[in-house]
Amino acid sequence: MNSESRSSPTLRDDENTPLQRLERLAEPWLERLTEPSHDGEHVRRVLRLAERLGAEDQADGEILRAAALLHDLGRALPESSRPHVELSVEIAHDLLERSGFPPEKRDVVLHCIRAHSYSRGIPPETLEAKILRDADRLDALGVMGIIRTFSYGGTFYDPADPLARKKTLPEGEKYCVEHFYEKLFKLPDGLYTEAARRIAKDRVAFMEEFLARLEREAVGES
Ligand SMILES: [Fe+2]
Repeated sequence: MNSESRSSPTLRDDENTPLQRLERLAEPWLERLTEPSHDGEHVRRVLRLAERLGAEDQADGEILRAAALLHDLGRALPESSRPHVELSVEIAHDLLERSGFPPEKRDVVLHCIRAHSYSRGIPPETLEAKILRDADRLDALGVMGIIRTFSYGGTFYDPADPLARKKTLPEGEKYCVEHFYEKLFKLPDGLYTEAARRIAKDRVAFMEEFLARLEREAVGES
């Protein structure tokens, strides 16, 4: 990967803080996040959620904002066969250095990125890492969770079995609604912060109402 050639905007004189410079340096990477469920808006939503959770638990805002901003940038390189988390850490390392981010905080940001992944199984060891992980999971719930699930594509549901109570697709194929039960509704159990658990409860309630309506509308009853 040649991150220098991919991401080298000119720093402006009015960008006085490392975080402002980091945001500027991350912009071209965010523009290249084109997968609908992990696009630049996902990153911005996670950033806002992380700020909200961080304010309740007095987290280090500088670390948290940097980690949220950088956590998925490796997804801008879908042609790579390497895990996106590893790529995100490499890109983040480069951008943190170029932005003049406080050296003593850089490894803490990188740990947040490594520990945010659902599949990597790395336990978050700091408050900021726990909050980033919670914020990333919250964006898989509620309205955004529904939009992101259906944006993956595939068959939405089986008209004869809208909530996938019976498995009717061949092994290896799934209806979109199955993702709710196989992953999304399990996410609240792994949340670390009280604030995230509260938000998740509200978001899951909306998703349950959505599925109940789906079941009725699928047969013209609602
Ligand atoms: Fe993410």
